[in-house]
Amino acid sequence: MIKKVLVTGASGLCGSITSQGLSKLGYKLTLCDIKKISSPAAKSLNISLNKKIKIIDLRNFSKVKKITKGMDAVVHFGGIPRHKPHEDVFQNIIDHNIIGTYNVFEACRVNKVKRIIFASSAHIMGYHDRKKYLDDKSSFRPDSHYAVSKCFGESLSKLYSDKYNIKILNIRIGSALPKPTDMRFLSTWISFRDLIQLVNIGLKSKKLYCSSVYGISKNKRAWWNNKEAYRLGYKPLDNAENYSKDKLTKNEYKDKIALRLHGGVFTTDGLKGKLSNILKNK
Ligand SMILES: NC(=O)c1ccc[n+]([C@@H]2O[C@H](COP(=O)([O-])OP(=O)(O)OC[C@H]3O[C@@H](n4cnc5c(N)ncnc54)[C@H](O)[C@@H]3O)[C@@H](O)[C@H]2O)c1
Repeated sequence: MIKKVLVTGASGLCGSITSQGLSKLGYKLTLCDIKKISSPAAKSLNISLNKKIKIIDLRNFSKVKKITKGMDAVVHFGGIPRHKPHEDVFQNIIDHNIIGTYNVFEACRVNKVKRIIFASSAHIMGYHDRKKYLDDKSSFRPDSHYAVSKCFGESLSKLYSDKYNIKILNIRIGSALPKPTDMRFLSTWISFRDLIQLVNIGLKSKKLYCSSVYGISKNKRAWWNNKEAYRLGYKPLDNAENYSKDKLTKNEYKDKIALRLHGGVFTTDGLKGKLSNILKNK
């Protein structure tokens, strides 16, 4: 039974909210991050986890090894998310997302941690045609170096499940926000309670071996077939469609290419390729 759970990135938006949810579900949590909570979004949700957060830099393997000792599972949110309008420099993505994620997986192997839940991203599918309904078996078409770092994490998950018998759930998060604020999010949004439910499935499901699921609510306009999540027991409670559309921004609408591809504006940031070629090469 999974009881002792480490949450990395616990000061961030997803990490802090999920920690709050997992704590209510009775898990004994250890929280870590490179810094204390500073995100206005997390603060505005009145989360008082700050004093419990241990300051650990995931780039430091010996520290990661120490903090994962005795854990049953790790929920890995720590890393650099994609920042607007451009992504971070590749060296930072290598250090925090690639080395940091490797350190988490490797420390789990050394310490015989049974399960890992990895915060992947739907941007690993970025260059697919939006007219194509994707599922967990669709091939990667990452739209940024950030997305490549998530492909790396998902590849690690295959290695560590087959070779080291760790059960792993990759959650390809769409847009985790308190509520949808842009038209895109009608397709990609996940509510916090649905995200917590998916993480809990990763910690509990007896059917889990190594799966990738989409981190979305039951959105009417979803572009992703989440059958693998449903097989594991996911029953999303929310649907982006239930929110008023009046005040939604339309950030992608001035960019026809972004509107055609799953990754939206991530795909057109620095784009030199042609849409026709991207669509031809499925
Ligand atoms: N929020 C979303 O919509 C979304 C979508 C797709 C994927 N994700 C993924 O989910 C995870 C959490 O995203 P978020 O939106 O909460 O981002 P966030 O920036 O709010 O949280 C990430 C946390 O990781 C911490 N961190 C970064 N580098 C670290 C290091 N070397 N050692 C320890 N901690 C470190 C940061 O301090 C931060 O608190 C990220 O991996 C992100 O890529 C989020």
